[in-house]
Amino acid sequence: MHNHVLQILVLCLSAAISADGETCSGIVPMRHRAENISITDFGGVGDGETVNTAAFAAAIKKIEQLRSEGGTVLYIPPGVYLTERFNLTSKMTLFLAKDAVIKATQDTLDWPLADPLPSYGRGRERPGGRYMSFILGDGVHDIIITGENGTIDGQGGVWWNMWRRRTLRYTRPHLIEFMHSSQVIISNVILKNSPFWNIHPVYCSYFVAQYVTILAPADSPNTDGIDPDSSSNVCIEDSYISTGDDLIAIKSGWDEYGIAYGRPSSNITIRRVKGSSPYAGIAVGSETSGGVEHVLAEHINLFNMGVGIHIKTKVGRGGFIRNITVSDVHIKNARRGIKISGDVGDHPDDRFNPNAIPVVEGITMKNIRGEKIRQPGLIKGIKNAPFTSICLYDVNLNGSIAEITTWECSDVEGSSVKVSPWPCSELISRQGTGSCSIQT
Ligand SMILES: *[C@@H]1O[C@H](CO)[C@@H](O)[C@H](O)[C@H]1NC(C)=O
Ligand SMILES: *[C@@H]1O[C@H](CO)[C@@H](O)[C@H](O)[C@H]1NC(C)=O
Ligand SMILES: *[C@@H]1O[C@H](CO)[C@@H](O)[C@H](O)[C@H]1NC(C)=O
Ligand SMILES: *[C@@H]1O[C@H](CO)[C@@H](O)[C@H](O)[C@H]1NC(C)=O
Ligand SMILES: *[C@@H]1O[C@H](CO)[C@@H](O)[C@H](O)[C@H]1NC(C)=O
Ligand SMILES: *[C@@H]1O[C@H](CO)[C@@H](O)[C@H](O)[C@H]1NC(C)=O
Repeated sequence: MHNHVLQILVLCLSAAISADGETCSGIVPMRHRAENISITDFGGVGDGETVNTAAFAAAIKKIEQLRSEGGTVLYIPPGVYLTERFNLTSKMTLFLAKDAVIKATQDTLDWPLADPLPSYGRGRERPGGRYMSFILGDGVHDIIITGENGTIDGQGGVWWNMWRRRTLRYTRPHLIEFMHSSQVIISNVILKNSPFWNIHPVYCSYFVAQYVTILAPADSPNTDGIDPDSSSNVCIEDSYISTGDDLIAIKSGWDEYGIAYGRPSSNITIRRVKGSSPYAGIAVGSETSGGVEHVLAEHINLFNMGVGIHIKTKVGRGGFIRNITVSDVHIKNARRGIKISGDVGDHPDDRFNPNAIPVVEGITMKNIRGEKIRQPGLIKGIKNAPFTSICLYDVNLNGSIAEITTWECSDVEGSSVKVSPWPCSELISRQGTGSCSIQT
């Protein structure tokens, strides 16, 4: 996309996102850095051709040596800085000026490998290790990636084609990943064409993403926007995400590996997010073996979607999905408004435990509006392990192109109030508002 088109898009977005309500500020303190170094001081050249790997390594080494109490800004001036992957260090701000671009090289052959995540047991898409993330913070704290809406461009095309041709040897790299880290802010930056998931906080706490724009083509495989994974106290707000897979998907490990690691995702807040995808807008799952709880997603604006809100798990996952509230959602043009399903996804290997039945309880969806929704909802629990305390409150998904106007439900218990079209009989409680009364 040309830069001026992006600028216009960025302007439209800021107008579209409402400013009212609470914010993530305060969860991670905003720092004023004592030192400021520029990538050009380390030989960085923003001509789009020079490979700047050594400049990034030297600049980050310098930040480690400075050990400045207040931390250090690494300033990226306008220009296109091509580089191989690099690691971040604690107490730094990566600041991209307006029209600064950090661009990943496409050298898939020499891309370094990392061990599989313990909670996944293997790479997500290929057995064994995985390609190291383009920008990685591992075991770090107090990191900010920000600026004047400069761009981090993953040039994912080569990776997407390897996936399409089935020539990937290992799992593709994320664009930005934080592992075992805390106090991270990603704000006022544009991410585009990630090889795989865009932002992946895993085993993290106190993690904020705000005023982020994430773009990838609708047909790019697995370019999830933000996937909080076995992480707590995560806050995502005021962002625009349009990609080829789930915009936001909350996860916590995969089958027997996730169960053994046992680290849930908890206290996740998502608000004022807008976007479009052939898959889901707000998702939980399908890898939820460490458990997911205490999630609030509100003021979500979705268009041209596969599924608006998708909670997904599977027998063998184990874990739990509970206390999830999604409210004030507008969905325009989707295959399905709401989907809660117990049969989604694949297994890492055949050693998964068929008796590891996930518990799904306490899911509230309120003030949900849709237009041009083909099917309002599908809720499919697990046989002999129904999903319980499901509450639909003030949900109108009646859609003008309604091809399947009815809800489809099985193995679910709960209630519904003010739902149109008429929900499935499993959710029509005889005692008034049932599970909706506790949760709304
Ligand atoms: C950091 O230094 C660059 C010049 O190298 C300057 O343009 C920029 O404004 C400075 N940023 C801060 C936060 O001081
Ligand atoms: C980056 O961090 C990873 C994980 O800690 C480490 O294995 C790798 O060696 C680091 N790479 C560089 C270039 O420092
Ligand atoms: C960056 O873009 C976001 C999203 O459009 C906007 O809200 C924010 O104000 C912009 N930030 C800057 C520093 O221009
Ligand atoms: C949960 O997150 C919110 C905002 O994201 C934060 O204000 C609150 O302190 C967190 N609660 C706990 C128990 O950590
Ligand atoms: C449910 O999660 C919300 C955060 O989204 C939290 O404030 C609330 O205390 C949780 N409720 C229970 C019963 O744990
Ligand atoms: C469908 O929803 C719209 C918008 O909420 C509403 O105006 C309309 O009356 C509804 N139609 C039916 C048949 O319920």
